[in-house]
Amino acid sequence: MHEDVKKVLFTATEINSRVRELGNIISTDFMGYNPLIIGILNGSFVFVADLVRQITGRCQVDFMAVSSYGSGTESSGRVKIIKDLSISVKDRDIILVDDILDSGNTLYYLCQVLEARGPASISIAVLLDKPSRRAKPITANYTGFVIPDEFVVGYGLDYDDKYRNLDFIGVLKPEIYNK
Ligand code: IMP
Ligand code: MG
Repeated sequence: MHEDVKKVLFTATEINSRVRELGNIISTDFMGYNPLIIGILNGSFVFVADLVRQITGRCQVDFMAVSSYGSGTESSGRVKIIKDLSISVKDRDIILVDDILDSGNTLYYLCQVLEARGPASISIAVLLDKPSRRAKPITANYTGFVIPDEFVVGYGLDYDDKYRNLDFIGVLKPEIYNK
């Protein structure tokens, strides 16, 4: 526990076992393929690291960095690519991996950008989903946990670039972001 956290939603053990399940499902779905796993920085770095180690068979890993949040808790709707991929997505089966699907602005925009580059397929894997906040028509193919509309941190997720190193996922005390 951390003094800025109101309650724990998922412990390290619970996350670990769910990520293992997701890795098994993805391994089965992509058996015989060589998917390109694309982590969306910064939030997905912990999830990607754990998920790819649960994927058996061939895969490649690359990262993109986008900005959409600044230091607040609301998505601006504007998404900017800060770092692009090193590996070409042309004719590749890509799996976009993000920490959380919230408004959907980030993944909606990225899907459009990547679709234009001619991949064979695009799938989406997210650790968390907040469906009540969706502003864009987008759903994930692989979801760790569906959560209510609360601002969460830990396991890669941040507020103002803090708390990413927590090994659990918890709800941030509102007084921290209302300060
Ligand atoms: P979307 O574009 O609104 O779907 O938001 C995607 C990004 O917003 C995620 O990759 C996170 O970086 C950030 N985000 C959304 N909700 C939360 C949250 O509860 N805690 C921390 N970051 C969040
Ligand atoms: Mg983020």
